[in-house]
Amino acid sequence: MPMVADMGGNDRKSLWDENSSWWSEQYTTRYDADYEDVILPFVCDALSGFRKIIDVGGGEGRLSRYLIEQNGSEVVSTDFSLFQLRASEAQDPSPNHVQAELARLPFGGGVFDAAVTCLVLEHVLEFLEAVEEISRVIRSGGRFVLVLNHPAMQTPESGLIFDHVAEPPTKYWRISNYLLESSHFEEVDKEVFLPFEHRPISKYINTLIESGFTIDRLYEPALSERHIEGSPELTSIRFIPRLLIVVCSK
Ligand SMILES: C[S@@+](CC[C@H](N)C(=O)[O-])C[C@H]1O[C@@H](n2cnc3c(N)ncnc32)[C@H](O)[C@@H]1O
Repeated sequence: MPMVADMGGNDRKSLWDENSSWWSEQYTTRYDADYEDVILPFVCDALSGFRKIIDVGGGEGRLSRYLIEQNGSEVVSTDFSLFQLRASEAQDPSPNHVQAELARLPFGGGVFDAAVTCLVLEHVLEFLEAVEEISRVIRSGGRFVLVLNHPAMQTPESGLIFDHVAEPPTKYWRISNYLLESSHFEEVDKEVFLPFEHRPISKYINTLIESGFTIDRLYEPALSERHIEGSPELTSIRFIPRLLIVVCSK
């Protein structure tokens, strides 16, 4: 595989096309604790009262459907992968779909009341351009919710380490080269590679501020009770956050 940094937009789009059915299988058809217990209820609550929403990088549309069902929102879901959009189109209810690159959204300025990106920006090379585009299409007084794999706790090569040499033996969570921005492919499942762009939290926050947003709240949810009940082996990492959620206003 070439380094992600050398890959153009089309190659990245092909990867998402190729992995589209894997994504649907993982996150649409079975219980996923991060989505069901944390992301869906949280975003729904944060966006209640905002009518016209753009779900940027909306993929197979799980979050869009939830916003339509729970909040009665009018949702436009954009994605550069036609396969992802088709998977979303096949579901009911279905948002309006528009195939678009994140950094080039085909909408006028200020046409949405709010935007959400859910597990998207950490996969995107043109990060600054993407945030500027999202800022452009949200009206003044609107809201932007970003859900990210936690940039500090889920750095490349982070994870639980068993130190058998320590006396007594111990476990700790390794965080590797947090400040170093890097591109890599992660094998998220057997032979399923996805591109990841690591950036520190300061990069996210400062880019949001420079693009006209005011940061309202940051959330770092622990693993849910239900998640731990179903997977007791995760108890020791319950308080290592998997997600960082940023709520900002324009
Ligand atoms: C991890 S999936 C998340 C999908 C959806 N937001 C969800 O939470 O179920 C990331 C999505 O971002 C899309 N994506 C990645 N890079 C993109 C880009 N540069 N422009 C538009 N969409 C992009 C992918 O096609 C994929 O559907």
